[in-house]
Amino acid sequence: MFVSQALPIGLLLLAAGVAAAATEHDDQQRGRTVETHAKIVGGYPITIADAPYIVSIRARYYHEASFGEGHMCGGSVISQRVVCSAAHCFEINDTMPVRFRDSENFVVVAGVTYLDERTEFTAEYLVEKIIGHHNYIRSTLENDIALLFLNGIIPNDSLYIRPVSLAEHPFSPGTLCAISGWGNQKMQLMQAIIPTVHEGLCSFIYMYLPRSQLCAGWMSGGIDACRGDSGGPLVCMNSLTGIISWGVDCGRRFFPGVYTNISYFIPWIKMVNATFNYNEFKPMRRSLRNNNNCSFRNLDYLRNALLLTIIILAT
Ligand SMILES: *[C@@H]1O[C@H](CO)[C@@H](O)[C@H](O)[C@H]1NC(C)=O
Ligand SMILES: *[C@@H]1O[C@H](CO)[C@@H](O)[C@H](O)[C@H]1NC(C)=O
Ligand SMILES: *[C@@H]1O[C@H](CO)[C@@H](O)[C@H](O)[C@H]1NC(C)=O
Ligand SMILES: *[C@@H]1O[C@H](CO)[C@@H](O)[C@H](O)[C@H]1NC(C)=O
Ligand SMILES: *[C@@H]1O[C@H](CO)[C@@H](O)[C@H](O)[C@H]1NC(C)=O
Repeated sequence: MFVSQALPIGLLLLAAGVAAAATEHDDQQRGRTVETHAKIVGGYPITIADAPYIVSIRARYYHEASFGEGHMCGGSVISQRVVCSAAHCFEINDTMPVRFRDSENFVVVAGVTYLDERTEFTAEYLVEKIIGHHNYIRSTLENDIALLFLNGIIPNDSLYIRPVSLAEHPFSPGTLCAISGWGNQKMQLMQAIIPTVHEGLCSFIYMYLPRSQLCAGWMSGGIDACRGDSGGPLVCMNSLTGIISWGVDCGRRFFPGVYTNISYFIPWIKMVNATFNYNEFKPMRRSLRNNNNCSFRNLDYLRNALLLTIIILAT
């Protein structure tokens, strides 16, 4: 293994353990358990006013059955009609070119503190288009980014739903950032504070770190994003800096979480954003449930993902 950066001495002692866990990480990706699941660990509860840019992305079929059902992934509002999330939340399969799920299967819920509590500040949006990165790679989760174009306008005068600016440049290692997501027993929005990690240290830990990814987390563990937080924001100095992508377990010592590197994707985000017509609204089906249409049965995989979440929470 080639290590190009100086590393803290203590960490070198861990090399053997790292090799063992890296194998586990490979297994985890192959087994697809890194997909859609539960919660920020080691965090504290917040209200939506503390992170008004975060949204809950839900499977519309379950959402239409009962408000609060179907949460799959987090996302961040980046303009009045665009939400940024992780490509792995929407992939159908990993053949090249990768295919993403039809946008009408999702709904974006903004302005909620609790997953199942609808207030006067809550807004729901159907999704006109999902553009996942054409070079998204499942095995390494490289280019794990997708933009969702909403069938409505996000208000620009709300304290509870608001776009976040994008980090044009990376922050220096040790910058304290906030990750947010849903999923404890009360289903309340949670947040945790974690530092960005030096690129060299991170590529040492994971053996490989493309420029499209960055690491953030405490080496002491215990505080991290977890399944179900995928697609959600890593915000540093009030700018969206990362998208929650993957990790080894949740909050394991010496394994910081891995995030999509937003500053690397600024040109891509601007390019895709420019293809959206902000003045046009596509007619959408009003419901997936009222026409006895069997073609949505394939969403049963979502139910399995949600059951898995419950099992994880219960153990
Ligand atoms: C994966 O996507 C390709 C490309 O659209 C498609 O032809 C193929 O049938 C899909 N495979 C599976 C297993 O769904
Ligand atoms: C706020 O939103 C309204 C309605 O969509 C729009 O007309 C206005 O230009 C927006 N203002 C700013 C500062 O973006
Ligand atoms: C993220 O992307 C930026 C911009 O391309 C790059 O300078 C940086 O090295 C990348 N990696 C990290 C960890 O910030
Ligand atoms: C996206 O496009 C809208 C409408 O043209 C524009 O107001 C906004 O600044 C763009 N955002 C980004 C990140 O390119
Ligand atoms: C069922 O949904 C599919 C996918 O949107 C659509 O193509 C088809 O026309 C629908 N069938 C009925 C009977 O509504």
